Amino acid sequence: MTADTLALLGGLKAVTASPRSFVRYGDAELEQLKEALAQGTLFYAHGKKVKELCARFADMHGVAHCIPTSSCTASLHVAVAALDLEPGDEIITAPITDMGTVLGMLWCQLVPIFADVDPDTHLLDPASVEARITPRTKAIVPVHMAGTPCDMAAMRAIADKHGLAIIEDCAQSYLAEFSGKKVGTFGELSCFSINEYKHISCGDAGLILTNDDHLASRCRLLIDKGYDRSGLLRIRTTPFLAMNYRMTELQGAVALAQLDKLESIVVHYRAMYDRFHAAMQGVEGLHLPVETLRGRTSAWFYMMRIDEAKLGVTRDWFAEAVRAEGAPGGGYIPFPIYLNDIFANQATLGTSHLPYSLPGVEIGDRYAEGVCPNAEMLLKTCLNFSMSLGQTEELVDQYATAYKKVAAYCMKQKSCV
Ligand SMILES: Cc1ncc(COP(=O)(O)O)c(C=O)c1O
Repeated sequence: MTADTLALLGGLKAVTASPRSFVRYGDAELEQLKEALAQGTLFYAHGKKVKELCARFADMHGVAHCIPTSSCTASLHVAVAALDLEPGDEIITAPITDMGTVLGMLWCQLVPIFADVDPDTHLLDPASVEARITPRTKAIVPVHMAGTPCDMAAMRAIADKHGLAIIEDCAQSYLAEFSGKKVGTFGELSCFSINEYKHISCGDAGLILTNDDHLASRCRLLIDKGYDRSGLLRIRTTPFLAMNYRMTELQGAVALAQLDKLESIVVHYRAMYDRFHAAMQGVEGLHLPVETLRGRTSAWFYMMRIDEAKLGVTRDWFAEAVRAEGAPGGGYIPFPIYLNDIFANQATLGTSHLPYSLPGVEIGDRYAEGVCPNAEMLLKTCLNFSMSLGQTEELVDQYATAYKKVAAYCMKQKSCV
């Protein structure tokens, strides 16, 4: 056994350091929760916590309105509903994302269309977006995946040229920047997640940003059954189809405490991400992520892909070998969003196949395998791990050692064949 014997084959593990301990929900959250309870109401329209959260989040982004919701999936549903589109209209988005990006579109009887991603940035490729525009296209939903901003100059140029709205999916990308501006400030509407896994969490909730007064007032009604809670007079009438996606004061309280920590969390994630990235430069057989020109990631997770032909192993074997070394690593979603049953088999409402069966809607091969080849290749070969407050410089250095050890082993084995 030598130093380069893989742990998977009985060698010593490359990772010997332990994560540092940290408290995710502590005294600050408890204090906020006590204050929320002391209000005697947990209803967002009567309490102060959700209002303060929204005011601070809007302020942080220099945006006029912030609307609270129960999740980012809810935010995205409300955002597309706010656009008041016709059933059968199309929205272009990314095939590598969370299902929450597209569910609201389907509930609004809109047809999600998937454009391919760039194999290096892993983000929507503007040329592919433009190629998928039809007379029915009404909006683009760029997803700032893994914390890395899409090319918002290109997205805006396409949107303006074709008269489309932009809804940014910022679930994974708090404080990421494009051209020095925070994501969430480019779209007509932008949606954020405060679920358990994101940079900040209150268990579950979401936020919507917009500068548009009309869209903001539609969103406010859409989250609350259409009820207007703005004035002293509570008007309980429903002007259009709406949902109940309210955030409670308890969620708002915890989210407020978390918001105070957001900047320091992003600073730590970026430092760990940059350190790992620098250590991995030049490793044969691995394609490291490339940041969008003028973009700055907020480093939610680090995604690379392996060259299976060059290394002579599969992604799953490589991931297992890396995990045996003590480093994290695995794939993202198993296949592009459009290969899920709700698209590939049009399994939506009963046997209706809505919205695909609406007059004038032609799906053709738009959800067929092969429609976004880069996304398909990437999901089969990507390796990623989340950044965490538990990571230290020593730990991420050892992660890099583990990845390099496995890659070097594969290259050596290959050259012996
Ligand atoms: C890119 C993206 N969009 C939307 C969502 C949905 O967020 P939520 O779980 O808050 O509904 C997620 C959550 O994982 C996400 O990562």
